Amino acid sequence: MQHYIVSTIKSNNLKNYFMRYFGNNIKTLVNNLVVSYTDQGPDDAPVLIFIHGFPLNKSMWNKQVEELKKNYRVIVYDIRGHGDSDAGTEDFSIRLFENDLIMLMDKLKINKASLCGLSMGGYIALNALVYNPERFDSLVLSDTSCLADTPEAKTKRVNAINSILEKGVSNYADESVKNLFAPESLSTKEAEIVSVKEMICNTKEVSICCSLLALSARKETCHKLSGIEVPVLILVGEEDKITPPEVSQMMFENIKNSTLHIIQHAAHLSNMENPEEYNNQLQRFFNTVYKKTTKVLTGNDNSIMSQLSSKLNILLSF
Ligand code: MLT
Repeated sequence: MQHYIVSTIKSNNLKNYFMRYFGNNIKTLVNNLVVSYTDQGPDDAPVLIFIHGFPLNKSMWNKQVEELKKNYRVIVYDIRGHGDSDAGTEDFSIRLFENDLIMLMDKLKINKASLCGLSMGGYIALNALVYNPERFDSLVLSDTSCLADTPEAKTKRVNAINSILEKGVSNYADESVKNLFAPESLSTKEAEIVSVKEMICNTKEVSICCSLLALSARKETCHKLSGIEVPVLILVGEEDKITPPEVSQMMFENIKNSTLHIIQHAAHLSNMENPEEYNNQLQRFFNTVYKKTTKVLTGNDNSIMSQLSSKLNILLSF
């Protein structure tokens, strides 16, 4: 058996195989900068890539990764300037972030994947699909919008930058959570609030300010929605004030193959505020897109590789 596994691994390119199993926070060079990502789940399963919101990092998807990695290869990464990814020297823009994503997929030799992006992650995901339709099977747009910033929103971004420069990131984090979470979550989701504040405080001041400029300068993509051909799931927290359900409704009406689901007991961070409902929606959607690909271990080559992948994955995540 051991001999069989070793020869199977060899024939599957040892280096590429084990590269996936250095555990969480794998660092790789993409677009001339160090990008941090986590890559879990069976090797031969469909690939799902999650893109976090501003100014957070890949750990906001922990509860989705835990669930979905049972049936899918799940990749979460830190957008440049966030989490453990470098910021680089170029001016931040949504198109630059989108280009980084495509180059990360190229680096990991992923030809096709499904994307799930929340808020800023959704702006990136939508651009990625619009400009590279051949690379994606499906899309989840969560608590996001295709609209550009209004003049009032742009003024708010400038005020936020001034406030960060004057009062620091910690004060910005305290103010942000009041808008990110539903009033109900503010009293029931203590751990999530602590974690979101930590994510914000661990993001460099300069990266937060540059991201605010990128968000403010982003182009609208609503006129592209009617050209989307892949299945799209739109999720939004019922109390999301930043990208409200009306915007999701508008996107739903303009994307032909789309489904809209409103997440209860949640505002802008619906995946963290109501992970059960959120995960159910994701499971149902991806299982339909991929015609239910739950692994059945039958003893053939692929299933042995999958078992081995999962075991290595568990070992190395400690
Ligand atoms: C986010 O959660 O990514 C931001 O709220 C996006 C934005 O401010 O436009």
